Amino acid sequence: MADIDEVMKGIEVKVKKLRVRNFKSLKDFELDLQRLNVIIGPNGSGKTNSIEALKLFKMVLDYLRGEEINPFLEWWGYKNAVWKGDENLPITIDFEYSVTYKDKSVDSSYEITVAESDKEFKILEERISILSPLEVTLLARSDLWKLILKRELLEKYYTKVSEEEIIKLRLEVLDKLKANQEVEIKESPHRYLMKLVLDMIKIMADTESVVGFMHDNICDSISESLGLDAMGYHLSIVLDDLLDDLVYPITLGAVGAYIIAEGTIILGRIEYKAIREPIHPKRELIISGDGSNLISVLSSVGEIPERVVNSIKYVFGMDSNVRLETTSDGRAYLKFYDGKSELNPPSVPDGLYKLVILELALERNAPIIACDEIENSLHARTIRYVIDEIRNSSSVGIFATHSPAVIDILRPEEVVILEKDQEGATKPHRFEKPAEISAKLNKLGVTFSEYILYGGYA
Ligand SMILES: Nc1ncnc2c1ncn2[C@@H]1O[C@H](COP(=O)(O)OP(=O)(O)O)[C@@H](O)[C@H]1O
Ligand SMILES: [Mg+2]
Repeated sequence: MADIDEVMKGIEVKVKKLRVRNFKSLKDFELDLQRLNVIIGPNGSGKTNSIEALKLFKMVLDYLRGEEINPFLEWWGYKNAVWKGDENLPITIDFEYSVTYKDKSVDSSYEITVAESDKEFKILEERISILSPLEVTLLARSDLWKLILKRELLEKYYTKVSEEEIIKLRLEVLDKLKANQEVEIKESPHRYLMKLVLDMIKIMADTESVVGFMHDNICDSISESLGLDAMGYHLSIVLDDLLDDLVYPITLGAVGAYIIAEGTIILGRIEYKAIREPIHPKRELIISGDGSNLISVLSSVGEIPERVVNSIKYVFGMDSNVRLETTSDGRAYLKFYDGKSELNPPSVPDGLYKLVILELALERNAPIIACDEIENSLHARTIRYVIDEIRNSSSVGIFATHSPAVIDILRPEEVVILEKDQEGATKPHRFEKPAEISAKLNKLGVTFSEYILYGGYA
């Protein structure tokens, strides 16, 4: 069985855009993502909601694994999770990202629409749209898959087959493709694309086989319902080519969506008490939202990564260190060394655990690292260190803050300002000319936080 490590190996996912519809105050929310994105805004502007939307996305995986029956219970029911309590509305979350694997690279988006009906959590629809190298969409609903492609694309492959041959074969599917540009693929063996990735991971050992089998699986369901076997020889060869060119990008798009859902780390309220408790570690590779499985994740990773140790040395001085140790009854815990003194869990400041969690997330190449109120328990110098690390990492950071000390470390282009519109819907804004702001601030002799928090931004 492969785990997230094996699947992520050699696959690079870069998230570029997040869209959310109808989740809490995010009625229609669209955010272009930079390497670092720090969300600011008054109380109630939707900072926490923006980060919780990511949490909902992650919870879909728990649902598909059967570990979560209704993710909306996190918000005490659908009514609280959906825009203005309108339970007739579905919630949609959508990512744009690129996936690179071996010599192939695709620009893709994955959109999932969820809702609650009859008190049950429902996935209404998933949509993988490939934007490049070719345009194709695979839409998955509970009862059908639908392939949507441009007619021009089809015609490119068609030219190899004569019109008469197509007519002779009276292929309904091809007529449909030509007329509507959409093909319904009925009786799909897999209800959900994301579930298909999960199932593949359960039985495959590495990335190559996960991608390979996903590809074959999607290919089979498409070609079967196209009736490929029944076609003329030329036609089936042509369509085989077409299928192959279509299905590989779709496969990478689906695996990319899974990596975003699984690998994203969202830190909410950290359970420092649980982290301090010595435990028998389980094999776990993803840090949970409250950080409580930190010791398990560190134990599963093996050695404490150099990046983590370096961050401790930066904060605590060069002669400090951090190590996993075991109690006499074999339970693991984290011990810090501050020069000559040893810090056992009860004496470790909260901020050190938070720093270890953030650094570990970076080390694990989390596609997104999100953290509400990043300033909690962290000194400004430590935050500066983490922020620099994100800037030089392959992860995307989404942080929310109220702290002027954090704002003053940022570059104007890294700031996202939330405001509510007249309806009460959260809308993100960025500075239109970030380069000019730095120059202006210099001239005015004010800090960035003063500029933003005391009226400079209008
Ligand atoms: N279901 C909902 N529909 C519309 N707005 C909501 C919903 N639930 C919460 N909100 C709005 O979101 C606000 C809280 O947003 P939040 O993200 O917690 O703010 P903050 O920026 O302080 O973190 C509330 O003031 C409320 O106006
Ligand atoms: Mg908040």
